[in-house]
Amino acid sequence: MNKSKVIVGVAGSGAMGSGIAQLAAMKGHQVILVDNNHSAIEKSEEYINKALYNLVVKQKINDDDAAKFKNLISFSDNLSDFKSCGIVIEAIVEKLDIKQELFKQLENIVAMDCLLATNTSSLSVTAIAGACVNPSRVIGIHFFNPAPVMPLVEIIPGLTTDEKVIINARSLINGWGKTTVVAKDTPGFIVNRIARPFYGEAIRIYEEQLANYITIDHAMKEVGGFKMGPFELMDFICNDINYAVTETVWQQMFFEPRYKPSLTQKRLVEAGRLGRKSGRGYYTYSGNNPDSNLPDEKKYYQYIVNRILCMLVNEAIDALYHGIATKEDIDLAMTKGVNYPKGLLLWADDMGLSIVLKTINELYDEYSEDRYRPSPLLKKMVANNLKFYNL
Ligand code: NAI
Repeated sequence: MNKSKVIVGVAGSGAMGSGIAQLAAMKGHQVILVDNNHSAIEKSEEYINKALYNLVVKQKINDDDAAKFKNLISFSDNLSDFKSCGIVIEAIVEKLDIKQELFKQLENIVAMDCLLATNTSSLSVTAIAGACVNPSRVIGIHFFNPAPVMPLVEIIPGLTTDEKVIINARSLINGWGKTTVVAKDTPGFIVNRIARPFYGEAIRIYEEQLANYITIDHAMKEVGGFKMGPFELMDFICNDINYAVTETVWQQMFFEPRYKPSLTQKRLVEAGRLGRKSGRGYYTYSGNNPDSNLPDEKKYYQYIVNRILCMLVNEAIDALYHGIATKEDIDLAMTKGVNYPKGLLLWADDMGLSIVLKTINELYDEYSEDRYRPSPLLKKMVANNLKFYNL
């Protein structure tokens, strides 16, 4: 694939499709953005214009650049316009049957050597590819929102993806200045799997009334060094989206107890307390915050951080144990994808693996729940006095 000349097709002009189209245009590609909904196309055009305008205001690009990037993007409601594309990146609604139908249609439109990529967050790349006559050219390219800004992209080969397709997809996206990591085609890939305890364990501590959410957020920021606390972040991502990711990962992992969703978050969603976008989630974003008088209980900080962090580390170790990605990619994914202050495996070394194992074992003793079982790899490494990095 000739990277500099390739025409990039993007299917779906929602938040993700618009961001991916803007990014590809800013990297000099001609882009065809197709959506089957006219008002979505109009919104997308406005969204991209505004994003480029904001970059001009911030003096990141000049007026000429903005005009040039805009001109590189064509909007259409006709999939046939993808016929000259070297790659089509699908970012339509997250429904397997609809994605499969689209991929079948795409196969009849594009050239034999055109890559077909899906931006799915939670569906199986292998299942999407399975609908195609030639599944070997289908791959997952998972951007984070907003695509032009977020540095990480997960590359997910399906079971049938050709090796050359992986190399070409990775080199194209690296060429766009992104950090790519390769993930096994499993629920949540790297980031959305390993990050689950950041939310789930924080909610458990809150549900058990061990600490209020303000205390938990402060602890994770002040002692843990995270940029945002779990409750702030859930409100930012929005609770409906965060809940849906947790529920999907849990269901697709055959109801693995470590990923079990929480009733607290489900009720927030049912009440319409979605977070920032609805004006209220855990916190209130307009007028007075009714909970601003909650005490900040500093004496619990160490317990909170240790518990959540050890659960995160155990999850990262288990992902490595299951070959979801290399240790380097696991650490890169969590620092670049969700801004963690340190890679979790490096953090594990620094904390001491025996401390992590002791914490998880104590939680297991206390709760007798499978959720708190240490990864076999963690046990093996402690028994053999090993570290992840020989620094
Ligand atoms: P969205 O709902 O904002 O946009 C989806 C767009 O696809 C809509 O404009 C819709 O009209 C269009 N569409 C639906 N069916 C279509 C079809 N058959 N042909 C052409 N267009 C069609 O969704 P969003 O948030 O942009 O997500 C898109 C994909 O990206 C999903 O697979 C999602 O899981 C994934 N994703 C979303 C992230 C996010 O933070 N929103 C992050 C990473 C991945």
